[in-house]
Amino acid sequence: MNDPELLPILRYPDPRLHTVARPITAVDDRVRAIIPRMLATMYAAHGIGLAATQVDIHERLIVIDVSEERDQPMVLINPEIEWASPETRKGEEGCLSVPGIYDGVERSVAVRVRALDGEGHSRVIEAEGMLAVCIQHEMDHLMGKVFVEYLSPLKRNRIKTKLLKAERAAHA
Ligand code: NI
Repeated sequence: MNDPELLPILRYPDPRLHTVARPITAVDDRVRAIIPRMLATMYAAHGIGLAATQVDIHERLIVIDVSEERDQPMVLINPEIEWASPETRKGEEGCLSVPGIYDGVERSVAVRVRALDGEGHSRVIEAEGMLAVCIQHEMDHLMGKVFVEYLSPLKRNRIKTKLLKAERAAHA
């Protein structure tokens, strides 16, 4: 079998990153064909999570692998938060759509999420630590939200300027 073809990742401040994703109505061949491509794209970029929004597919689909060995892929389709801990913690986050930028975001330390897996089976995921943060970060993407939007407008504008400059330099 050929390696799955990688998908281009949208970079902030691309306005398409602010698209709200639609629910997936059926986990069919079309959806099952996207999943390996998203996983390959995430692994190639050394990311721990990727939302379909980031590859310009505006459907509620997320892939995650927070394992050290990069061998525990998770697929979340139509994820819904059933419970989020009132306890929050500020931790450093990065994003494949915001390369080279890391900053603190306050998140619930634990969440319980219901989602379909890659076979279309309903699953409940109890997550804490890095997985909980990652799920919240990726679910934000599906709502059109990038983590830099939690930062101050001043910081966000600096990041925007920096990334636009880098993009212009890359295309010069
Ligand atoms: Ni991200």
